[in-house]
Amino acid sequence: MKSISVGLLGLGTVGSGVVKIIENHQNKLMHQVGCPVTIKKVLVQEINKMRQVDIDKNLLTDNANDILFDKEIDVVIEVMGGVLEAKEYLLTALRQGKNVVTANKDLMALHGSELLSAASEFGCDLFYEASVAGGIPILRSLVDGLASDHITQLMGIVNGTTNYILTKMSNEGRSYDEVLKEAQELGFAEADPTSDVEGLDAARKMTILATLGFSMPVNLDDVTVSGISKITEEDLRYGKQLGYTMKLIGFAHREDEKVEVSVQPTFLSDNHPLASVQNEYNAVYVYGEAVGETMFYGPGAGSLPTATAIVSDLVGVIKNLRLGVNGRSTVSPQFPKRLKDDSE
Ligand code: HSE
Repeated sequence: MKSISVGLLGLGTVGSGVVKIIENHQNKLMHQVGCPVTIKKVLVQEINKMRQVDIDKNLLTDNANDILFDKEIDVVIEVMGGVLEAKEYLLTALRQGKNVVTANKDLMALHGSELLSAASEFGCDLFYEASVAGGIPILRSLVDGLASDHITQLMGIVNGTTNYILTKMSNEGRSYDEVLKEAQELGFAEADPTSDVEGLDAARKMTILATLGFSMPVNLDDVTVSGISKITEEDLRYGKQLGYTMKLIGFAHREDEKVEVSVQPTFLSDNHPLASVQNEYNAVYVYGEAVGETMFYGPGAGSLPTATAIVSDLVGVIKNLRLGVNGRSTVSPQFPKRLKDDSE
């Protein structure tokens, strides 16, 4: 098989991780897919800027069309973030017959159904494992691993930034502002951390989890959301004295055809399994009627963990290319019809 060419949209924290994994794991990738995988072009905002990764400047472009309309590019990986521009780029890529891997939870929570329909219309894969819980392969676990079960409850710590902040405030008595700054420097937080600290990032991820876990359309607008920006060190200290740890908990419950989803700061008893999830780590508890309780745990943010999920999706796309089943494979988690934003 010829070598696979990738176009990368974005070269921030996660994009740099993707470049590193594709370069450093070339032997493993070769073993998995039977051909070399190369990055052909990378979309950046500024060509002449210091990068988090060594990269040949000739690969950089500030014009998305250089990637979207390059006939030699087989797969587009989107790690630029944002919604409107990213959506246009991905729809264009799909119309051009390019398979897509994205880490964009905002985009998938709002327009996942429309994008997945376009992917299937144009015979392309659209994989998005990295959109929820970084390095934890939770979407495939819900859709494939637990395919035979009836899932009724999902509960999770799905935002690394807020878990990092709450952990450091609670364990080290440090201030909210100081730890938020540190989480930004470590590359966990969004460009505008408001969506992290106000719970919106977690709400978007819970929308995706509930949609896939319950096989029912769940709208972001219906999620009750409250963040951690008003939590003080005193709140955490008093809770600790009583044997409780505060976490930003996403909760989704299904009863018959009714689904309730919320994100809110919650005091958990210190011996609750989610109470011991520290720093930027995420965990998702899943209750299925047959399997009972399962829990998935791992790094939920950061360059290499998130990039691992993206490059694993890339491997899935290339395997499908070999089989000629892109756009038809059951490996791509599909949204049930139909999210409200898409029908408008
Ligand atoms: N800002 C996100 C988080 C990044 O902190 O979880 C990973 O989606």
